[in-house]
Amino acid sequence: MIKYIGSKRRIVPVLGELLDLAGADSALDLFTGTTRVAQEFKRRGAHVTAVDTARYSEVFARCHIETDASDVDKDDLREALQYLSVLPGRHGYFTETFCVRSRYFQPFNGERVDAIRDALETEFKSSPLYPTLLTSLIYAADRVDSTTGVQMAYVKQWAPRSFNRLELRIPELYAGAGRAVRGNACDLIRSLPKVDLAYLDPPYNQHRYFTNYHIWETLVAWDAPEHYGIACKRIDSRDPVTKSVFNATREMPDALRQVVASVQAEVMVLSYNNESWVTLEELVEMCSVRGHVGVLAFDSKRYVGAQIGIYNPSGEKVGQVSHLQNVEYVLVSGPKDLVAAITAPYEGSRTPSRQASLF
Ligand SMILES: C[S@@+](CC[C@H](N)C(=O)[O-])C[C@H]1O[C@@H](n2cnc3c(N)ncnc32)[C@H](O)[C@@H]1O
Repeated sequence: MIKYIGSKRRIVPVLGELLDLAGADSALDLFTGTTRVAQEFKRRGAHVTAVDTARYSEVFARCHIETDASDVDKDDLREALQYLSVLPGRHGYFTETFCVRSRYFQPFNGERVDAIRDALETEFKSSPLYPTLLTSLIYAADRVDSTTGVQMAYVKQWAPRSFNRLELRIPELYAGAGRAVRGNACDLIRSLPKVDLAYLDPPYNQHRYFTNYHIWETLVAWDAPEHYGIACKRIDSRDPVTKSVFNATREMPDALRQVVASVQAEVMVLSYNNESWVTLEELVEMCSVRGHVGVLAFDSKRYVGAQIGIYNPSGEKVGQVSHLQNVEYVLVSGPKDLVAAITAPYEGSRTPSRQASLF
């Protein structure tokens, strides 16, 4: 699985269960990132729309969400990956920038990335396999990188995995239709079709995905951009259009409030990160415009969950919103009966203060 900050890898099964409990046939994953959550929704049978500003997220979504596995000729796919795997390496932009000027990858792997990516552009651009092959290349590069999981720096000594030979594998594909959309959630939110369940996992702090994953942006754009600094970031990292309001302390709360209010969905599920600029109380209040709000808390290590409260549209509840340590919160909002039904399995007699130790 690709390394990605804020990825919901560990609560994916829970989010899938919420989809089932909601009886949802259609879903929106508005800040899809790796598409892990969107994939879980699709795997459970929903028609999913996956949205993100990142170029690589769009490629992942075109592979995992938009591609219908039943339309893919597996022999063709295997053959294409085999062909790409044996291409001789070539010292190009990728090798020079990310293996010589910086040390994200070993040059012998960088040269293969250059050769494979060039071949994708010249020989596979119009093939339906293109997003799947490109996804396979990004995952392969991720497995042999020399970083701690973000691309703002590389480790001083080559990471042990960087000595492995880059290996193309078949990405997970699922039967059924779906949709990949690249764009700004704030601009798109009113035009996206209504769904049964929408999942929102926005960035909650100043760390920009565009710069943290600039190599994946470049690997997809394949535009050999001018770069700067030790990290060799793309020059357009300085361009305001590559910046997200969700990384701006003053703009983020209003942007989130508007998106939350405008999502066209019966049920909205929102992940809350407690390093966020907004508090859990503020989020409950924002979500209250959608109806009732159920707050679930999950231990961040073991993923045992509990319901810690249901709030009415005025944001009122018996008791207070509790803040627990090492806990991830999931807010479920919508019509009262539905929220109650979705959160009921997590209901327990445990008081919030005991949950932290009980989880
Ligand atoms: C916390 S991550 C989502 C992680 C995802 N749930 C997963 O499991 O991989 C937030 C995502 O929001 C995206 N993003 C940032 N600003 C955005 C915006 N204005 N519109 C849409 N997506 C945005 C980032 O590119 C990033 O992928």
